[in-house]
This record gives sequence, structure tokens and C-alpha cells, in this order.
Amino acid sequence: MRNILITGATGMLGGTLAYFFSSDFNVFGTGSSEYSEAKFAYKRFDLSSSNYDELIKWSNPDVVVHCGALTNGNFCSNNPKEAFDINGISLQKFLQSTKEDVEIIFISTDAVFPSSLHLAKESDCVFPENVYGKSKELGEFFLKTSNNRKYTIIRTTIVGLNVNKGKEGFVEWILNTAKSNEELGLFSDVLFSPISIWDLAKEINFLINSRNINSETLHIGGEICTKYEFGKRLLENLNISTEQLVESSILTFSNRAKRCTDQSLDSNYYQTKYKRVLPNLDQTINTIKQYYYYE
Ligand SMILES: NC(=O)c1ccc[n+]([C@@H]2O[C@H](COP(=O)([O-])OP(=O)(O)OC[C@H]3O[C@@H](n4cnc5c(N)ncnc54)[C@H](OP(=O)(O)O)[C@@H]3O)[C@@H](O)[C@H]2O)c1
Repeated sequence: MRNILITGATGMLGGTLAYFFSSDFNVFGTGSSEYSEAKFAYKRFDLSSSNYDELIKWSNPDVVVHCGALTNGNFCSNNPKEAFDINGISLQKFLQSTKEDVEIIFISTDAVFPSSLHLAKESDCVFPENVYGKSKELGEFFLKTSNNRKYTIIRTTIVGLNVNKGKEGFVEWILNTAKSNEELGLFSDVLFSPISIWDLAKEINFLINSRNINSETLHIGGEICTKYEFGKRLLENLNISTEQLVESSILTFSNRAKRCTDQSLDSNYYQTKYKRVLPNLDQTINTIKQYYYYE
């Protein structure tokens, strides 16, 4: 079995990948905090470290799936140095500390594109509007300018549930707020194309196992909808009251880090090239429902 190093293994996507991949790979996971509940080989490691040799020696990876990131847009805007270091320069450090035959999958984001682009394609020019997007663009740059390295940059928008119960993502926030009877405002003027973390895990697994890490950028997302529409359909499907749900506008959030109003990605190139069919919104919501009841 090949060794896989997953960064961000205490986070939403990385935590799920670590469980999902354990039947196919020797999984080594890392994050910046203690994680005694991890059911895989786990090492605490700070990605701002100047040298990654200790992490690479421990995991001896054939493949690195780099999910570790500072994902809070406001934090990134207030701490640009840390954001560029963790989200961007970490790629340069992985390239320097691993042998040329180690494949790298970098989880990037829709935030490398501006609001003016609808259903952004891989061939569209990036133009991030905030520090988070710029820091991810920097990470992409190191891979794209690397020599002879096999990599895949996956631009995506993920939704799901955290295995790590100490964390709360977008879906958990929607469910917890609705259940607490507080007002739940969701943007009806922001578009995105969410894919569940479990569906994305399947696609990453496919790319690695079919030996299709081809030094390219791929958009892997789901069906386009507004954040409000997503939340409404999620709550209805889980039979949770939508009484507290209100349509809100991103324009009322002027004091926060600039966020795109159109975060949609076009995933047709990936689906056509690799003959894959990505889930629509109903399927995404059903997948969340399945894991919600399972957990
Ligand atoms: N969530 C989304 O909507 C979304 C959308 C598009 C793209 N993405 C990308 O998808 C990937 C996974 O996102 P996610 O939502 O799963 O993220 P997440 O839940 O916020 O987890 C982030 C992970 O990064 C780790 N990390 C942060 N700073 C670190 C540091 N200095 N050293 C080592 N590890 C560090 C965290 O470790 P600790 O928790 O232990 O500190 C955690 O494991 C990210 O690259 C993100 O940019 C996410």
C-alpha cells in the first residue's frame, strides 16, 4: 500500500479523507492541534515551520493531499503574513522537502476568482478579491512553476460535517442555529456550487488510484445555488424547522473581509475528461442527510 500524508487532518475535509482513505492507503494525518481521538497515525505539526523534513521523514509519503489551511477569511485579512505562509508558501516547502516522484494534491478554492466570473472555468484568469484567495493563488503558483512534479490543484467549494467534534463548519452552523431558534440569515445574493466532502473524497480517491495526477488544475464542484437555497433545502430535507430562516444580503456585511458574490465553478472539464458524473444539489443534500443520521 502507498503512503498518503493528509494535512488538515483535524479539519472538515482532511478528517474525512483520513477515514475514507484508510482501506486503500497507509494514512498519515497532521494538523496544528492535539488530536487524541484520531483513528489513524497522527502527528501535530505547524505548517509555518521553516523545515518540513521531520514531517516527511515520519510519513514517507508517496502522495501528499494538502488540505491544511487558514480558512477563515477575516482572520486571513487581519493576518496576511500567516495566511500567505500557511496557505501559499507551504507548497514551496513541500516541493523542497519531498522527492520529485512524490505527488501533490492541493485543495484550492473558488476564492481565486472575482465575483464578476460566473461558473468559472479552469481556463479563466484568476483575480482573487481577498487575502485568503490571494494566499491560495500563491500556493497554486508554486505548483504550476515546479519542474517535473506531478500535482493536481483542485478548486472546489465543500460542504459537510466534521468528524472532529470540536469543529463547526457551514452546515453545522446552519443546523445548530436553526435548532437553537435563533434567527438564521443566509445570503440569497451569493451563488456557489457546493460538493460534499464525501463526494469530493471519492473523486480524489479516483484520481490517485487511477494514476491521474497529471500536473493540472481541475474544478470539482456541484450544482449551482444560492446559500439561502442550500440552507432551506438542507433544513427541509432534515425536517428541521425553517421558521427562523431569513433571506439576507452580503451587502449588509460590509465590515467583514471582502467575499465574492459569485463563487460558482464550472466542473464540466473534469467530468468530460475523466468521464465522471458529479452530484447535483439533491444528491449533495441527501449525502449530508445520510451522514447526519449516521453520526
Ligand atoms: N470549507 C470550505 O468552504 C472550503 C471551500 C473551498 C476550499 N476549501 C479548502 O479546502 C481545504 C479544507 O478545508 P476545511 O473546511 O476542511 O478546513 P478546516 O476545517 O478549517 O481545517 C483546516 C485545517 O488546517 C489546519 N491548519 C491550520 N493552520 C495550520 C498550521 N499552522 N499548521 C498545521 N495545520 C494547520 C487545521 O489544523 P488545527 O485545526 O489542528 O489547527 C485544520 O486541520 C482547505 O485548504 C480550504 O482552503 C474549503
